[in-house]
Amino acid sequence: MHRKNYIRNLKKEIQELKEKRNAVILAHNYQRPEIQDIADVLGDSITLSLKAKEINKDIIVYCGVDVQADIAKILNPKKIVLLPDINAKCTMALMLYLKDLKKAKEKYPNSQVLLYTNSPIEMKGYVDRLTTSANIAEVAGRMKTDTIVWASDIHMADYVAEKSGKKVIPISEEVVCPVHNQLSLDDLMDAKERHLQAEVLAHPECLSEIRKKAKHIASTEGILNYCKKSNTNEFIIATENGLLYRLKKEIPNKKFYPASETAICQPMKAITLQRVRDSLKEMKYQVEIPKHILDKAREAIEKSGW
Ligand code: 13P
Ligand code: SF4
Repeated sequence: MHRKNYIRNLKKEIQELKEKRNAVILAHNYQRPEIQDIADVLGDSITLSLKAKEINKDIIVYCGVDVQADIAKILNPKKIVLLPDINAKCTMALMLYLKDLKKAKEKYPNSQVLLYTNSPIEMKGYVDRLTTSANIAEVAGRMKTDTIVWASDIHMADYVAEKSGKKVIPISEEVVCPVHNQLSLDDLMDAKERHLQAEVLAHPECLSEIRKKAKHIASTEGILNYCKKSNTNEFIIATENGLLYRLKKEIPNKKFYPASETAICQPMKAITLQRVRDSLKEMKYQVEIPKHILDKAREAIEKSGW
């Protein structure tokens, strides 16, 4: 069978299964183009989380990474949440250990712990506040302590400190998002030389030297919204390259260039049409979260104001 027919048939099968199962498909902005095309809702972590909260269908198929599907389950625990590939695990979250978080909490008893949503589920039962990249400045700013124990990416730790004016202590110096960490100043300067009129837009997970060159720093959805409103016509995008497909599709009159050709998140790309079809057909892989963690995580989200 030709690829075009194969893809068309898969999409048709997914549509039929979706109706039969009373399901909805949520997809992150880093997903493959063909997954973005079949999504009922596209967005960044917070947009999809808030959407998941109000879904009244029976099943949520989450096309993203494990840690994001967990949040959908936490916010709407009565629904079945399916992650189409059990191995779609955020690489950065796998670098975080609960023992380091517990150690930091003991060392700084007067601090509060702020956790990024891209973190292991067992940690979500131990934190004071939870944040996504979109609301990090507000959540950190509203925290009552001057010292924040930060359980995630070291580049974002700097960003939280810059934005909140607080002392931010990362639980480990060895935690980065490999996709944003490999995005170098060399890559960016090269892109800038080739596109002299373009504005640089960066995700908060980028290195501070990249953020300093950016006109605007925002979550993936924040970048999209900025490009829609801006009077500028060309942009260099410093984040995972899946976002470029959505930018080009929704803003066809403007030009978008990747800051790095190699900014690709493999776990995000593990979600394929075939796996979405199989997931709906076989009802796999269902997200399960122990109740005590789920309740504590939801409380942290509520306290964080989202
Ligand atoms: P967003 O908060 O923009 O969705 O980013 C999530 C993410 O995985 C960044 O690497
Ligand atoms: Fe995790 Fe980085 Fe991939 Fe985002 S881009 S899902 S933080 S590994």
